[in-house]
Amino acid sequence: MRTLYCGHVNEALIGEEIELCGWVNRRRDLGGVIFIDLRDREGILQVVFDPDLEEVFNTANSLRNEFCVQIKGLVRARPEGQVNKDMTTGGVEILGKSLNVLNRSEPLPLDFNQKNTEEHRLKYRYLDLRRPEMAERIKFRAKVTSAVRSYLEQHDFLDIETPILTKATPEGARDYLVPSRTHKGEFFALPQSPQLFKQLLMMSGMDKYYQIVKCFRDEDLRADRQPEFTQIDIETTFMSADQVMEVTEGMISKLFKDLLDVEFPTFPKMTYAEAMKRYGSDKPDLRNPLELVDVADLVKDVDFKVFSGPANDPKGRVAVIKVPQGADKFSRKNIDEYGKFVEIYGAKGLAWVKVNDASAGLAGMQSPIAKFLNEETATALIERTGAETGDILFFGADKAMVVAEALGALRLKIGEDLDLVEDGWRPLWVVDFPMFEEFGNGLTPLHHPFTAPTGINAEQLEAAPELALSDAYDMVLNGVELGGGSVRIHDQQMQAAVFRILGISDEEAEEKFGFLLEALKFGTPPHAGLAFGLDRLVMLMCGATSIRDVMAFPKTTTAACPLTNAPSPANPTALDDLAINVIAQKKSEEDA
Ligand code: AMO
Ligand code: AMP
Repeated sequence: MRTLYCGHVNEALIGEEIELCGWVNRRRDLGGVIFIDLRDREGILQVVFDPDLEEVFNTANSLRNEFCVQIKGLVRARPEGQVNKDMTTGGVEILGKSLNVLNRSEPLPLDFNQKNTEEHRLKYRYLDLRRPEMAERIKFRAKVTSAVRSYLEQHDFLDIETPILTKATPEGARDYLVPSRTHKGEFFALPQSPQLFKQLLMMSGMDKYYQIVKCFRDEDLRADRQPEFTQIDIETTFMSADQVMEVTEGMISKLFKDLLDVEFPTFPKMTYAEAMKRYGSDKPDLRNPLELVDVADLVKDVDFKVFSGPANDPKGRVAVIKVPQGADKFSRKNIDEYGKFVEIYGAKGLAWVKVNDASAGLAGMQSPIAKFLNEETATALIERTGAETGDILFFGADKAMVVAEALGALRLKIGEDLDLVEDGWRPLWVVDFPMFEEFGNGLTPLHHPFTAPTGINAEQLEAAPELALSDAYDMVLNGVELGGGSVRIHDQQMQAAVFRILGISDEEAEEKFGFLLEALKFGTPPHAGLAFGLDRLVMLMCGATSIRDVMAFPKTTTAACPLTNAPSPANPTALDDLAINVIAQKKSEEDA
């Protein structure tokens, strides 16, 4: 029906007759001549209809926005002065010779010229995707996946599919369950990741695996989290953590070079401990110059319980964020707002000190807590933080995790508020994670329970699990966790020990992961891998702020699809077949 895309027409085609199909982006009637901006996936092109061809002209006159049309015409240069440098096709136009209306369109329920609510955009996503900005992102995503495939295939990775109807994979979220009709009362779980299957593939001798694969997690959604999202999932045999990092860093660097012409240096590696200490986060945004400075040792003896308590608690922490020349930038109201902000992260307050004269010690400080400090502490704080006249210090004092989260988040917020975040790209690897973290009365894995500890055996691990580090690594880019992985446990004793540490009984381990424990008996090779969040990668590369903007059909933040109205009640016969009795009621029925 057409000879080429609108967006591909250029000066080289001047004088040729071509055929195009697309949508009317805009129609203008300029004193007897009709101009149509014709749009397809690849771009927008100007078509002119002269009144000389009466029938064609009359049809053109009847066109409205979003009519789908087929046009034959002559490519010609635009007249002098009418060249549009902002359009790729701005040097040419088509003189329309024939016009076939393939389908009419009602006025769209979306207004492309103004902001539509996201809910509305998702309801009419197929129309939203007609917008060039969205089309560009979807096209860019396809380029990324294509480049990923070619890189990994060049490096001997095999694309292997793994099941979607499967057993639970523990990645820290709730499972989406699918009832079985043939095994009534039993359920499949959708995979939170292909973790166990990719490990089994290494046991099969597949050596290097990859898959661009959907993962399903029922968790609280955010700008960079969706209930179904896509991983670039990778697993290798006989490779160390460093080798996995090297090959995957190579992939990300090549994507940025080839698709964005951005050259990355070798990624720095930072330990988890250092990241938490300096940035209060295991995914630090290194573009933000603010850092946390520890001061517990300086305030152990102050007459202020808020500080001395955590300073003397082995699990406590007292830290400061110094905002250079921030003293005049924040009003009392701003500071109070920051105090409220850190409360979201569990902080009980946000003490602050304005350094009005750094050389005057305590007398140069303006602060609600000045009365609790003495000369020596004040001088030591100024020295430790390197504070200068005009700076402001914000304090966090609490359990170490609360301080890290609260000041880590405050650091990002102030960075944005004061526009301190540098341009550009700051990738890094975060390594040497603890194996476990406290969770209630027990321990939970920081990554997943198949991650190997670094340099110790099962006995040593069981003796002091809270001290063990894991052979895991996360790739972080501009404060976003792009991917994570680890060397895996390939020894049955070690795997059983980890399950015990996590409080998983032998019976439960057998029931949930018996197949894995059994597989570990049959010559399992050392293996390691990693998974990237494809949506997050594309989001960053496109400069989008939400992964929803780089997914064709994402869900809302309440995990629903306004387009199809999923999820929706099931047909009663289908439920009977599944032996399922629905007791949950709609909120409106409950309230009635
Ligand atoms: P992890 O759980 O860290 O590791 O996931 C890997 C990467 O997937 C992305 N990601 C998400 N993206 C969008 N929405 C979500 N809900 C979401 N959850 C995770 C992140 C993350 O870094 N099996 C392990 C990997 C391995 O060990 O090989 C795993 O799934 O970018
Ligand atoms: P208070 O003595 O409770 O009025 O607190 C004095 C100052 O310390 C106020 O500015 C509080 O915001 C701050 N503050 C209270 N608790 C903490 C905390 N855990 N960490 C940091 N500052 C705090």
